[in-house]
Order: sequence, then C-alpha cells, then structure tokens
Amino acid sequence: MHLGHVGFSSPLLLAPMSAICSAPFRLLMEDLGAGGTVSELVSCHGINYGNEKTKRMLTIDEREENIGLQLFGEDPKAMSEAAKVAEDYGPKFIDINMGCPVRKVVTKGGGSALMKDTSKLGAYFGSIKAAINIPLTIKIRTGWDQDSRNALEIIRIAREEGVEFVAVHGRTRTQQYRGQADWDFLEFLASESPLPIIGNGDLHSPEKAKARLKTTRCQGLMLGRGPLRNPFIFLDSYLNEGEVSPFTPADYIEITQRLFDYTRSYTDRERTILVQLRKHVVWFAAGFAGAAHFRNEIFKSQGIDETLEITENYFKSLMESGRNNKQIDPEQSFMAGGHG
Ligand SMILES: Cc1cc2nc3c(=O)[nH]c(=O)nc-3n(C[C@H](O)[C@H](O)[C@H](O)COP(=O)(O)O)c2cc1C
Repeated sequence: MHLGHVGFSSPLLLAPMSAICSAPFRLLMEDLGAGGTVSELVSCHGINYGNEKTKRMLTIDEREENIGLQLFGEDPKAMSEAAKVAEDYGPKFIDINMGCPVRKVVTKGGGSALMKDTSKLGAYFGSIKAAINIPLTIKIRTGWDQDSRNALEIIRIAREEGVEFVAVHGRTRTQQYRGQADWDFLEFLASESPLPIIGNGDLHSPEKAKARLKTTRCQGLMLGRGPLRNPFIFLDSYLNEGEVSPFTPADYIEITQRLFDYTRSYTDRERTILVQLRKHVVWFAAGFAGAAHFRNEIFKSQGIDETLEITENYFKSLMESGRNNKQIDPEQSFMAGGHG
C-alpha cells in the first residue's frame, strides 16, 4: 500500500507515542502486523544541540521496515537542520508533530500551536521539505478548538508544499483526550482532502478497527493506545467475521521475551530495560484474570530476571487454569493524555 510516495505493508499503522514508540516496541508491532510505525516525538532543538539522549531517540533498528521519525519544533530553520540529521538515521519519511496539546510544547509554538496561525505554515513546510530527500508528512488534530477546525485548510497548504500524507487525530487541541474522536469529521476530511488521510482516534479494539477499515474513506488508520493492551490488534483486525482470536496467554510469554530481546539490543542500560519491560507487561495483562494482582507483583519485583519470571508464571497459570479469556472494555478511559 502506498500513501503518496511512502510504502506500507498494510493500512493499519502504529501511532506515534512518546516514551513508548522507540525501536524495540515498533519492531515488535511490525512483527505483529502493523503496516508501519512512527517514532515518538523528538525535539528539533535537542537534536541540534547534539543532546545524546535526544539523538538516541532517532535510532532505528535495521530490521524495521516502514518507519517514520517524528520531530517537533516551531522554528523552520531549526526543524530543517534537525530533519537533515534525522534523515541520516535512515527513516522512510520525516513526520512533523502538529498535534501535541501539552502546555510546555504549545507555549513555545510547537505541536498543536502550529495549527493556530496558518499564515506561516507554507514557508515552514517548504523549508523542511527542501532540506530533506525523503518524504515529509504531518500529524495534526482537527483544529485548535471546536470553533476553529481548520484541518482542511492546513492539509491544502501542506499539499502545496509537497507533503505526502496527513494523519489526523479526531479531536481538537482544547479537547485534549476528552470525549470521543469525531469520525464524522475525519470521514468528511478524507472525502475532501487533496492528500491521503490517515484517520486516528479511539480504535481501541480489533472490532472497531475492522469495522472502520471496511467503511472508511481514509487511506490508512492509526492505532495508538489499542496495541498497548492488545498487541495482537493488528492481526486480529483482519480475522474473518465470526473467527475468534487465536492468541492465548502462551503468545504473551513469547512476545514478552521478544520485546525483552529487542530492548536489550537497543540499550544496555538495565534501568531503561526494566522500566520499559514492566510498563509493557502490565499493559499486556490488561483484561486477563488477576491482572491487578500481577501488576502489584511486577512493581514489587527486584530486577529484570524477576520481572520476566513473574510474567512467565502469570501467563502460564492463566493457561493451566483455562482462564484464557481477555476482556477489555474499549470504552473505558485509558491513558487519557499524550503528545498528539
Ligand atoms: C502516551 C501517549 C503518548 C503520545 N505521544 C505522541 C507523540 O509523541 N506524537 C504524536 O503525534 N502523538 C502522540 N500521541 C497521540 C497518539 O499518536 C494518538 O493520536 C492518540 O493517542 C489517539 O489515538 P488512540 O485513541 O488510538 O490512542 C500520544 C498518545 C499517548 C496516549
């Protein structure tokens, strides 16, 4: 599948998420059927200052296939310089974060603040585009607030400057993560847009993603929080009607090990590995029997080995007692905050 000049292996993509979408998790999600992924947001100023921690966020695993690096920043010159540096890390495209609602980012004019004043956007896109030799893409919200939903105007400006596609989180900045993503508006955008649209927001279950895929006018869909609790969501979204998910607790043991291996090859910092691992296994357990108790055990654990052992024992005990059923309420609020 192609969106503009960017090829993906399927229309269901992993949404960018800060402190989550580093190479190990992205790689796991590609293994588990994501058609492509986008990095967490990376500060253009951090890149230009040569900050080591920031630059590590640009690392791509050579096994990753369809990956974009997302940058944020208000200044076209700083963004252009940073985009050039990011390009050297080998992504397929550079994405601009124009959806982050977080005050610290917005007060400096980055993230969703870029949607407020459209007069400078043409020059902003144009200079970043001119600095790189790979496709440029953007991720926006529907607008700043309900009275200024100017996504279409921004998409038209982006098209003039050679942007390839636009991902849209179906909420305004003012909404943050409250209420529902407005899919009617997203479908309206998809039907009017001169660029391919990736619709995003609240597709937290395979059923929702599948139903939307069937009817949408969007060329692609992005899933963010859904894959955290159901890492098999991409594969499950392609099951035939009436088919049940083939994935069992045994598969969770396997992907935990795989995520651990990927994380270990990404960093040798024990602390980082532990923090990432704990976070993911607790999300993986969501909806299974005894998940709350498991969570407590995990946060009491002393180190990586113990975390892996507790995780394996937990999923094994689910299998042995036949409690394979995972039940997540997709309407229940989950992680209502983020950088886009
Ligand atoms: C923890 C978290 C971190 C996020 N970080 C980013 C980010 O770095 N860049 C971005 O464009 N969007 C970010 N987002 C927004 C998601 O990409 C997505 O637009 C949003 O979560 C809605 O999709 P969902 O309902 O499928 O989660 C983040 C969301 C969450 C929950």
